[in-house]
Amino acid sequence: MKQSLLFLGLSILMGTIALFALYGYDEVSTLHAAPVEAATPETKTPFAEGCEKCHGQEPAYQEWQQAGHFHALVNLIEGPYELQTSCLSCHSAGYEVFDERVYPGHTYNVETAVNAVSCSSCHSHTSRSEHLLVKPAKHLCVTCHKMDCGCAGAGIVHQSQSEMFLGREGAGVKRMPSPHVRAMKKRCVHCHMAKEDPEVVAQHGGHTFVADFSTCSASGCHDSADNDMTVKLPQYRAEIEAKMQAVKAMLDASPNRTSQAYLDAKLNYDMVKGDSGYGLHNMPYANALLDYSLSLKSELLND
Ligand code: HEC
Ligand code: HEC
Ligand code: HEC
Ligand code: HEC
Ligand code: HEC
Repeated sequence: MKQSLLFLGLSILMGTIALFALYGYDEVSTLHAAPVEAATPETKTPFAEGCEKCHGQEPAYQEWQQAGHFHALVNLIEGPYELQTSCLSCHSAGYEVFDERVYPGHTYNVETAVNAVSCSSCHSHTSRSEHLLVKPAKHLCVTCHKMDCGCAGAGIVHQSQSEMFLGREGAGVKRMPSPHVRAMKKRCVHCHMAKEDPEVVAQHGGHTFVADFSTCSASGCHDSADNDMTVKLPQYRAEIEAKMQAVKAMLDASPNRTSQAYLDAKLNYDMVKGDSGYGLHNMPYANALLDYSLSLKSELLND
């Protein structure tokens, strides 16, 4: 009896601490004044972020619910890879907040996790930045969207949008940031969250995070006759795909798969492939990476 009372007391205390962590002091008093009516299993756990109570009807929330980030936790858990708790640092919004030191006894792990890449992955009411972002837009997306997930050994190869966009980490090629890096202060956000009407639930852009090629011309950058992306993109793509086939044939024919030349050529190939299949986020860099791989041909085949 004593023990269960103690446990109840502890749970309430921990729940309160967690709420403060999520909302800050001001909002918690409001939350207590207006408890949610029908608690779903999700909202019963102290780990649930609960932003929908106040933001659920807004376009941002509705867009997010239809898009990829909403499925990040389910896809992680149901995926075919070996799970580590640290996978949650990018696949769930609870990992950072429910640090075991702050929240002992109720560990946030793949069994107890409830949040996907949800609102508090990117926003916090305790932030002083514009839109209450936890990091400036410039740094936000690249903290998760990178090839090196720090989860080596789990079997998954993550995609390479950040490395490609910033033009680095490839073998044998100098740094070559996409021309968009300078032109777009908000970087990924510029294309992936572009939205015409803020009041309407968008089909792409906004909190769907889905980029659309219409952004290229809507911004007034690529709409002249000699700069039409609907013509240029397929040309780039065909050029890169041809080079990829050549590199792949070379890799397949190589007798030694542990030589530095093989590893370098394969790294560059994987980077281009991991970015929409053809290096979409930085075509000049994709070309340079594949050219370098092709330059290793004699080393690769004679080894
Ligand atoms: C906390 C880590 C994290 C942050 C920050 C993050 N993402 Fe993601 N993102 C993910 C994960 C994990 C997935 C995979 C979701 C899934 O399982 O399909 C994903 C998927 C995506 C997808 C594919 C969506 C789809 O519908 O398949 C796009 C596009 C994307 N993110 C863009 C962005 C942009 C733009 C930003 C910055 C505004 C961003 N992400 C910030 C973790 C993150
Ligand atoms: C992956 C990161 C990410 C996630 C997840 C995310 N946001 Fe955002 N949100 C942003 C960024 C970046 C901006 C600023 C966009 C800009 O500068 O154009 C923003 C802007 C906003 C804005 C102000 C502009 C607008 O679109 O109305 C609101 C409100 C908002 N977010 C609410 C939410 C809510 C609610 C959730 C949870 C459903 C959420 N956000 C999830 C990154 C995110
Ligand atoms: C008790 C109600 C309440 C809860 C719960 C709540 N918010 Fe808010 N939030 C507000 C109010 C009120 C504002 C200020 C009015 C506005 O801009 O919509 C606001 C503003 C914001 C903004 C700024 C929007 C902009 O236009 O820049 C973001 C982002 C945001 N909240 C995110 C969150 C996140 C993330 C959570 C969950 C962790 C959350 N909120 C939980 C009430 C709440
Ligand atoms: C540094 C951030 C980060 C870490 C850590 C991380 N991931 Fe991811 N993961 C992402 C992002 C971003 C995506 C979406 C785009 C991509 O594939 O790179 C993703 C996508 C995935 C997908 C594909 C989702 C789909 O579309 O079906 C799976 C599965 C996955 N990750 C599993 C894992 C596993 C297992 C771990 C831990 C061993 C892990 N991830 C750790 C960032 C991360
Ligand atoms: C110049 C505009 C632009 C910028 C900047 C941009 N993207 Fe994209 N991105 C796109 C377009 C367009 C697509 C859709 C590709 C398609 O449909 O084949 C895309 C696709 C994606 C996808 C899903 C497809 C895949 O396999 O790669 C992810 C994830 C993604 N981008 C993340 C990012 C991240 C992270 C950044 C910032 C480092 C970023 N993007 C910067 C335009 C952009």
